[in-house]
Amino acid sequence: MSAPCRILVLGASSAMAQAYARRRAATGASFLLVGLNATRLAAVADDLRASGAPAAEIATMDLADLAGIETRAADLRGRFGEPDEVLIAYGELPDQAESERDLDAARHAFEVNFVSVALWILALLKDRPPQAPLALITIGSVAGDRGRASNFVYGAAKGGLDRFLEGLAQKHAGTPVRIVTVKPGFVDSPMTDAIAKGALFASPDAVGADIVRAVEKGRRVVYAPWFWWVIMAIIRNLPWFVFRRLRI
Ligand SMILES: NC(=O)c1ccc[n+]([C@@H]2O[C@H](COP(=O)([O-])OP(=O)(O)OC[C@H]3O[C@@H](n4cnc5c(N)ncnc54)[C@H](OP(=O)(O)O)[C@@H]3O)[C@@H](O)[C@H]2O)c1
Repeated sequence: MSAPCRILVLGASSAMAQAYARRRAATGASFLLVGLNATRLAAVADDLRASGAPAAEIATMDLADLAGIETRAADLRGRFGEPDEVLIAYGELPDQAESERDLDAARHAFEVNFVSVALWILALLKDRPPQAPLALITIGSVAGDRGRASNFVYGAAKGGLDRFLEGLAQKHAGTPVRIVTVKPGFVDSPMTDAIAKGALFASPDAVGADIVRAVEKGRRVVYAPWFWWVIMAIIRNLPWFVFRRLRI
């Protein structure tokens, strides 16, 4: 991985984003950290500077607010310059039952996990110099690989994002723009605070290391940890007459 470079992080207080950014700070990368909460972002910026980043600026905003994404993306690019890497890490795990009862909650889940992410990507790529190298890294989820009764609103949002990124990667194949989709399984982060932890849970740090390797190797899709590729291949290929009986 060549360094130094400029990394724009959307959802920079995410545990996985911090783990990735800390590793990249040690290679001399500079950061523009975007998220909801200035105090949390300032703490992340301090940590990255202590880890070796020559610069780490912050910008606070609600990234899921669909209004003015194009203008805000242009402002960030004007302030920071064209980034060499973009990491999109923000997201929310909605309560499935609530999303089925309350359509505003469902709409929010789609907007935060898919619609806004896709619009941010389009806005960040718009009018970008075609020869400028870029690694665009987006954190999706294994939940997008197959619709399941227990979380199909979140799964549909992440699945839509997966299709969007697949098409984008095909569009940019052979160009300096690399599209990297990260599909974590269960990760022990604030997002899963309310969930009892089992053997399949990984640490944000392990996922951060997987993302670094995926970017270095130029992978288009990475399951994190790797064994989720096997689990999801089985789940995706289960015939319907078996799948419909499972309670997952
Ligand atoms: N944890 C898992 O098991 C798991 C599994 C698969 C995929 N993922 C995905 O991995 C990504 C990172 O999650 P994580 O596990 O690192 O969880 P996390 O530490 O809870 O990070 C989620 C981040 O999203 C930010 N965020 C949420 N809504 C936002 C908004 N409207 N505008 C700006 N920022 C917003 C949060 O900001 P605040 O902290 O300021 O609220 C938080 O920093 C997410 O896309 C998630 O869907 C997670």
